[in-house]
Amino acid sequence: MHGREGPGRESRVLSVKLGGSVITDKEKPFTLRLGLVEQVAGALAEAAEATGSRYMIVLGGGSYGHVAAHELRRGSAPVPEALSAITAAMLELAQAVADVLSMKGLRPVLYPPHAFCQPRGLRPGCAWRHVLEAFHAGATPVLYGDAYPCSSGWCIVSGDELAVEAACAIGASHVLYVSDVDGIYGVGGKLLERVTLNDVARLASLSSRQSGYDVTGGLARKIEALRENWCSTLRGVWVVNGLFPERVKALIMGERVPATLVLP
Ligand SMILES: Nc1ncnc2c1ncn2[C@@H]1O[C@H](COP(=O)(O)OP(=O)(O)O)[C@@H](O)[C@H]1O
Ligand SMILES: [Mg+2]
Repeated sequence: MHGREGPGRESRVLSVKLGGSVITDKEKPFTLRLGLVEQVAGALAEAAEATGSRYMIVLGGGSYGHVAAHELRRGSAPVPEALSAITAAMLELAQAVADVLSMKGLRPVLYPPHAFCQPRGLRPGCAWRHVLEAFHAGATPVLYGDAYPCSSGWCIVSGDELAVEAACAIGASHVLYVSDVDGIYGVGGKLLERVTLNDVARLASLSSRQSGYDVTGGLARKIEALRENWCSTLRGVWVVNGLFPERVKALIMGERVPATLVLP
């Protein structure tokens, strides 16, 4: 046993959301950060090997889904075109990331949310049975933010809420939001080590710092997603900087790294 901070060795199942800001270059449309994806996947694989941890993995849209959605909304594209283009963009990203996860031995299986989820507000409403079966068979389910048909035409289900519902469906003790910041910053820019969901929701600065395209709204969305979907098996949510892949590994190993733990 190392430190006391991360999910630790006894916590075997984690829901890991790989933020679009980490796996893609949010400033450049359709750009995968391949080297970083390899390092983060390697970190997850090594931590799994060392601790016996298992993962549900959820991908953010980054410069694939968000850029496609942004452009289509601006041009008010017809619904079927938008659905087709966004789901295709996200499948392309997911397949590229899954290839890397596979190379690292994580045995990914892709689950396109538009095919098995029925979101209402921030509740994804996915039919998890097949996903859980694959997980229990030893595979690593991979989901991602996606577009789906809704009453106003097309809507987006974000990886942020999928990661929480996935955690609850599988009985994960923790969600890891792997993002491009060290964690959650309080007033004055100080990194918060621990924060309750209520306190963080009150942070006025929450949605003020945005970079690149994010049609689902940065950190504020994460907090709302947590409030809507939290369940009793979920003990905490870590926000950790995936631009430093070694932190992801260390956190899962139970070591102390710069990060924020969100508690219910
Ligand atoms: N108080 C805050 N602490 C940390 N990040 C914040 C805060 N307020 C807004 N943000 C923004 O939230 C972003 C993380 O959300 P997002 O871009 O959706 O990440 P990802 O797509 O990687 O999941 C950060 O890059 C940062 O710009
Ligand atoms: Mg986001």
